Amino acid sequence: MGYSLNGWPEPVVPVQLISNSGITEIPAKYIKPPTKRPSLESLETKVDTDLYIPVIDISPLIRGSDHTDEVTHAISHACKEWGFFQVVHHGVTPDLVQKMKDVWREFFYSPIAVKKIYSNNPTTYEGYGSRVGVDKEAILDWGDYFFLYLLPESTKNLDKWPKLPPNLREITEKYGEEVMKLCKVLIKAISKSLSLDESYMLKAFGGDDNIAETLRVNYYPKCPQPELTLGLSPHSDPGVITVLLADEHVKGCQVKKGDSWVDIKPINGAFIVNIGDQIQVLSNAIYKSVEHRVVANAQSERFSFALFCNPRGDMTIGSAPELVDPLSKPLYDPITFDEYRMYVRTRGPLGKLQVESLKAA
Ligand code: OGA
Ligand code: NI
Repeated sequence: MGYSLNGWPEPVVPVQLISNSGITEIPAKYIKPPTKRPSLESLETKVDTDLYIPVIDISPLIRGSDHTDEVTHAISHACKEWGFFQVVHHGVTPDLVQKMKDVWREFFYSPIAVKKIYSNNPTTYEGYGSRVGVDKEAILDWGDYFFLYLLPESTKNLDKWPKLPPNLREITEKYGEEVMKLCKVLIKAISKSLSLDESYMLKAFGGDDNIAETLRVNYYPKCPQPELTLGLSPHSDPGVITVLLADEHVKGCQVKKGDSWVDIKPINGAFIVNIGDQIQVLSNAIYKSVEHRVVANAQSERFSFALFCNPRGDMTIGSAPELVDPLSKPLYDPITFDEYRMYVRTRGPLGKLQVESLKAA
């Protein structure tokens, strides 16, 4: 195929360096073809509050209350309508959230020579990077990121973790633990909302101790021509669910609804939750992972934290027999998560094409 997974097809230039250089026109490698450019009008003019994705108060789930039917129902509705929702009263403290933002901002603001120590490669993606996919011809996205494996413990490689600021590791680990607790609560509720046993999905994805967690800290530097590019191209997330922490002051993430792109307006203190490809497969497409993307911004830089809850790598995931009509076949061919992830990683963001490729013949 003309590339090797040991390295990138060409030298990787951090977008932060390009942005800080003071250019007024972005390099050709970032200019999307006209049909793939965002229409930025919606970002400035739309004030229609009807377009908020659902906001769900999940305190009954967090408290372990017996009265959770309403919440389960709201989750089911959101998964069917949007594949996205915001959760409030989720149990992760504002203090921890703020510390997470602070330590990672400090990391991204450290000198380029320090960040380059952690440069990543396209086999594991762990570390500091600026591209996804190894196609040399690809038009690049306007963003840098840091990617880490958090859980299970055996997948964590501390050599790849930034040593500075000194409390980054402790705070990131704590954040990972707290968000994993939340993910388990949400996965149980999603399982119940499909009339499956509440532990069904957790088991199918590797069980309490082996379900996996990775973190992608996204940094989108200011972009002088946001109308020509994207911070992150359309994609669906490959795993089970994603819990996104995003800045409530700087919009950027958009979700596809029918043929339009709808801005997500994060509520202060909320997390944005979305369904990944593995739930689409397991639920036999009763719930679908939904395409989303990030638009670039001329006025403000933006950070976001995507916590991906994934199946254990060697788990083979197929549609739950309970959710397949007895008179038809499952929609998807089973595949292990490691195999699927490798496929996604070599290709980079491709909208929904990746999960569609699992469709049974
Ligand atoms: C992602 C993602 C959205 C954002 O990292 O997969 O969709 O707002 N991020 O950064
Ligand atoms: Ni995503």
